[in-house]
Amino acid sequence: MHADALTAPVDAAAAALLAERGLRMAVVDPADRQAWHDWVAADARGFHDKEPSAGFLEDLAGDVPLQRAVGVYDETIAEPRVPVATVVSWPAALTVPGGGGVGSWAISGVTVSPTHRRRGIARAMLESELRVAVAGGAPLAILTVSEATIYRRFGFGPATWATAFTVDARRAGWAGGETPGRVQFVGRDGAIATARTLFEEAWRATVGDVEIVGHRFTRLFGAPSEPEDQRARRFARYDDEDGTARGLVVYRLVENPADFADYTVEVLQLVATTDDAYRALWRFVLDLDLVGTVKAWLRTVDEPLRWLIRDPRMIRTTELREHLWVRVLDPVAALSARTYGGAGRLGLRIADPLGHADGAFTIESDASGRAVVTPGAADGPLLELPVDALGSLYLGGASAAVLAAAGRLRERTPGDAAIADRLLRASRPPALTTWF
Ligand SMILES: CC(C)(COP(=O)(O)OP(=O)(O)OC[C@H]1O[C@@H](n2cnc3c(N)ncnc32)[C@H](O)[C@@H]1OP(=O)(O)O)[C@@H](O)C(=O)NCCC(=O)NCCS
Repeated sequence: MHADALTAPVDAAAAALLAERGLRMAVVDPADRQAWHDWVAADARGFHDKEPSAGFLEDLAGDVPLQRAVGVYDETIAEPRVPVATVVSWPAALTVPGGGGVGSWAISGVTVSPTHRRRGIARAMLESELRVAVAGGAPLAILTVSEATIYRRFGFGPATWATAFTVDARRAGWAGGETPGRVQFVGRDGAIATARTLFEEAWRATVGDVEIVGHRFTRLFGAPSEPEDQRARRFARYDDEDGTARGLVVYRLVENPADFADYTVEVLQLVATTDDAYRALWRFVLDLDLVGTVKAWLRTVDEPLRWLIRDPRMIRTTELREHLWVRVLDPVAALSARTYGGAGRLGLRIADPLGHADGAFTIESDASGRAVVTPGAADGPLLELPVDALGSLYLGGASAAVLAAAGRLRERTPGDAAIADRLLRASRPPALTTWF
């Protein structure tokens, strides 16, 4: 992506459309502290969050230069400086198959005030974000969603899935063996310092994960401005036998008022860059005394923990849902940036009502998995699909055969979807390990 995407001016087409409806669209001036605070307050209100405190606004101050916040203003309301709609975006490196980080346009904070909803303001903002991303050279736009019914119409498809689960810690039984390093407690500052390196290594190694910066990173550790119950966290680090930090678990303890020996551990983040670290940290939380239950969120769909305990039924999946949504904007750049499962040829005929990815393309990969992607459909296996389905296939998180069975794509010849899966899917499903 071009570095100047962050300072791109307001999208003229969306601004003109909204102006016809008496609304003003503007990029929030990073130097205008009041405008920034009003934007944050509108964003919080849009998600039914509490009014941001002065401390919270201070915590966010460092994020201002890292992102591009847009507000839509209605000069006729009682407090016209507070936007009636918000969106924020920034360039983020998304790990794709083969290990590269693709400069993607991350979108968040999409809100429209209940007083102005269902008049096309979100559509104007989303379409404008996609144009800004294209102008900035981003081959992909990415987001996480509050509701899974909103973004398909803008060409986003669910691309990674996440689970939440509950473990009966007393009955699970550890079967994962010993690890050579050791686990030790660290304080918040120590955890943040460790996590800066560890998290980067982890997201670079995890297809579907993104770089998280600013407040979105530090809030994982409980910001000092948050209420005490929100920031009560413990941090335990795993060091390998050479003393190098390889993993970190961030967790919270919830008391059972009826039974002092039956705490619940909530695992808020468990990041490990080695298998030993993963095993040691899970064992640590499962073995905590006075704990009956361990809960975890945003875990992968193929969590190795199932194979590390004696009784896998003691892991109860409480949630399985889509998490990262991907929108392909530039098929040639996006499809060239990832690798494939060997030599092969696959044609794609993409339908994109917004035009960005519309057309036919051919992926020609070699035995090393590197591909040349060209416009136009060659002979051979081909999928006809809407752009949102391509977003779902892009990281290998969905099966073309399943999408074909569900009528979400069409094969030129029966069996083309199986060929596509051989090229597109990897041995581990992609996973986004955070919210943004
Ligand atoms: C979701 C939200 C941003 C929509 O804003 P809006 O200005 O009312 O949306 P628009 O009028 O531009 O609608 C755009 C399209 O999305 C659809 N849509 C809007 N909100 C929707 C919802 N909650 N669920 C499903 N579809 C929705 C509309 O029907 C419309 O469809 P169409 O253009 O294909 O006919 C707004 O309701 C909101 O702020 N909700 C609370 C915060 C939130 O959930 N934000 C999303 C964060 S990921």
